[in-house]
Amino acid sequence: MSRIMFLLVLGLCTFAGASSEAQESRCADCHFANPQADPDPNHLQDWDRSPHGRNRVGCDGCHKGNAATTESFLAHQGVLTSRNPSSPVHRNNLPRTCGACHTGAFVAFQKSRHLGLLGEGNADGPTCSTCHGSVGAELLSPRRLETQCESCHGADDVFPLPEVAFQGRLLLEEVVLVRELLGQATGLIARVEDDTRKREFEEALQQAEVPLTEAVQAAHAFVFDQMKERLTTARERSIVLLNALANPE
Ligand code: HEC
Ligand code: HEC
Ligand code: HEC
Ligand code: HEC
Ligand code: HEC
Repeated sequence: MSRIMFLLVLGLCTFAGASSEAQESRCADCHFANPQADPDPNHLQDWDRSPHGRNRVGCDGCHKGNAATTESFLAHQGVLTSRNPSSPVHRNNLPRTCGACHTGAFVAFQKSRHLGLLGEGNADGPTCSTCHGSVGAELLSPRRLETQCESCHGADDVFPLPEVAFQGRLLLEEVVLVRELLGQATGLIARVEDDTRKREFEEALQQAEVPLTEAVQAAHAFVFDQMKERLTTARERSIVLLNALANPE
């Protein structure tokens, strides 16, 4: 009885939402009605709240299958359990699955020894979900990143390179700092009244945001030289912009 009510409400919401895109994805609808299908009770909620759920990256974005049908057999064609080495969500295949949409991170990750480990079927290396969770919802804070690297590269561990964990943390702290500078600049730009000047500032803001995004992507090589170069550029441009905003004329 309660399930029928739930489906009715769900149906009403779908129609009320009236987005044809939302109606094309039947996977989530049916899985929310059958939560026992997922061994991890948080997976659906995590997805719902994640940037993926909010930006219409459906279940099929990672799992494949046919999202246009309510017929279970047809829907699951091509869907394989993550334990199957051919599954798009097997840990060894995640870089390619996620990388289909996140090219920048994937290209950098291809330079990393970590990808080589996955290719060899070695379970000691990290994959995308190690740091972002299985629905890609999570972004690590600098301290949590350090802990994550240390779980494999810590001084008392069998893997070498104990210094990389601290390096990674410092660089991510700088990412956070540059983001704060850009946040301040955004606030100041909103108050600029002259339209021409405002547009110039907005362009300068973009010029500083691009290398910051590139820095985060390049970080996925885990050898940080290119990231450092992009981050320095982003910081310099942010400071020039903030100075210009603070000193009109
Ligand atoms: C009509 C309901 C329904 C639809 C539509 C549906 N699923 Fe499922 N799904 C289930 C149920 C129920 C299970 C549990 C296993 C079973 O009974 O087949 C399941 C199992 C799964 C599994 C686990 C497979 C395994 O072998 O461990 C995945 C992954 C999955 N579905 C993803 C999807 C994706 C992706 C879509 C859309 C392309 C989708 N599902 C559409 C109901 C549905
Ligand atoms: C961003 C990628 C991504 C999206 C989007 C995603 N999943 Fe998953 N899902 C995974 C990964 C990776 C696993 C493997 C297990 C793990 O790492 O926890 C998984 C595991 C599962 C499982 C357990 C069976 C298995 O193969 O391990 C089910 C069932 C499932 N997902 C259903 C769904 C449904 C339903 C949706 C949409 C509401 C969805 N997933 C959205 C990545 C994703
Ligand atoms: C079908 C395309 C697609 C796939 C596959 C996909 N993503 Fe995403 N991802 C997106 C979109 C769209 C967004 C939201 C817009 C944005 O932030 O770029 C997003 C956002 C993210 C974010 C948040 C970025 C931020 O700044 O908040 C992370 C992290 C992420 N994805 C990681 C992953 C991981 C890890 C996987 C694989 C497990 C994955 N994605 C699979 C399309 C995809
Ligand atoms: C060892 C940890 C780690 C692994 C493994 C990892 N990432 Fe990341 N990723 C990070 C960190 C740290 C950030 C930056 C977080 C921030 O922006 O605050 C990040 C950021 C991202 C973002 C957001 C980028 C943006 O432009 O805002 C995406 C998308 C992403 N990663 C995708 C991936 C994909 C795809 C993989 C697998 C190929 C992967 N990551 C593997 C740690 C990792
Ligand atoms: C799940 C375990 C794991 C995590 C988490 C992890 N690594 Fe690794 N990493 C490895 C292993 C295993 C190797 C290979 C060591 C070897 O070749 O002997 C490696 C190799 C490396 C290398 C050497 C690459 C090269 O090209 O020589 C660097 C640098 C590195 N990791 C940095 C990092 C950083 C930075 C983090 C955190 C952001 C991190 N790793 C997180 C397991 C991990």
